[in-house]
Amino acid sequence: MFHRFGVWTTVGILAVVMARGAAFGQSEGAESADDSGAPLRALAEARGLHVGAAVHPATMDDEGLALLAKQFNQVTPENHMKWSFLERRRGSHDWTVADRIVDFAEKNGMRVKGHALIWHGSVPDWFHKIPDEERWRAASEHITAVMTRYKGRVHSWDVVNEALDDDGRRIRDTVFSEGGRADYIARAFRLARELDPEAKLIYNDYGCEGLGKKSNLQYELMADLLKAKVPIDEVGLQMHILGPEGIPNPADVAANARRLTRLGLSVNISEMDVALAAFPGGTMEEKLRRQAELYQEILAACVGIEGFSGVTFWGYTDRNTWVNGLNARKGLHEPEAPLLFDRSLKPKLAFFGVQRVLSKTP
Ligand code: G3I
Repeated sequence: MFHRFGVWTTVGILAVVMARGAAFGQSEGAESADDSGAPLRALAEARGLHVGAAVHPATMDDEGLALLAKQFNQVTPENHMKWSFLERRRGSHDWTVADRIVDFAEKNGMRVKGHALIWHGSVPDWFHKIPDEERWRAASEHITAVMTRYKGRVHSWDVVNEALDDDGRRIRDTVFSEGGRADYIARAFRLARELDPEAKLIYNDYGCEGLGKKSNLQYELMADLLKAKVPIDEVGLQMHILGPEGIPNPADVAANARRLTRLGLSVNISEMDVALAAFPGGTMEEKLRRQAELYQEILAACVGIEGFSGVTFWGYTDRNTWVNGLNARKGLHEPEAPLLFDRSLKPKLAFFGVQRVLSKTP
């Protein structure tokens, strides 16, 4: 059931990383790119894990792509496999960016995680205008078009994204659920399995990382779907940490992941970023140190869990993060810095924190 990377020989690599470990705790926010120690991907592969990043055309220049290929063994298009990006006009697809990402991954021995087949947040405008009874047909045509194009090339798919309401009590009422009905979830997974039986099929959501109402609901939904023989392989815990109130307790995250694995599912962290806004007060130096510690604590709680498949960061350089767009909509214009590499692509303390976790002997 669990798909893990092959184990690499890493004795030499681990030695380098142990030496680099001294850098964590130093006061600089970033270090030279040439001094970054063992690549995350080698460390992750030694543990049978993936370490991925969401990619966006804004950061796909030569320097950025070289860094991605060096550090990560998996990529996810941040936006360009979403329905609203692929099929702005019904029946006419633009595969340009998605193809570029898949080609890049293949050339560099990286896996692709597709994101996201069914998400109410990424339906094209025309979908809202078609009659209700046509909606499932259009959605299934979309799933079919994308999964057929990338069959055998996309290793795993976020099949359904964010289906649960924030109150943690029900299925979210969306264009797909027609008043909170869950049938579309089962239908989407069954169709996805039929289209590419080899692909790993994932349910992905936010606010379900630790223990609480919404993660209990997610757990119950997964249990019910599995009981009904719906082909779900894995759950993605998004892990966007945007403010102090959003910091999950690492032990709760581990407990949540473990209960999901007991259902027979694997679990990944799917969209991790840690905004500096999560640490109000203090100097920039302190914020960057606390950011690194949090990355480290959460990942350390998960990497040893049997059935934990890996982590994807929602971007890799602070040059481009969705958090800035979110803040701008709230009238906040100070640039955020929630990722592992700074705006010049230098590794931050957060990078070294992740490196330390991955380098520990399992
Ligand atoms: O491409 C257009 C550009 O032409 C236009 O000038 C500009 C003006 O706003 O918008 C650009 O599109 C934006 C796009 O990101 C590309 O950067 C969209 O407005 C904006 O809505 C879109 O936001 C994305 C969001 O999902 C909605 O699709 C974020 O980049 C992306 O990080 C975010 O990712 C989601 C995951 O898919 C699901 N989980 C939560 C996560 C964060 O919201």
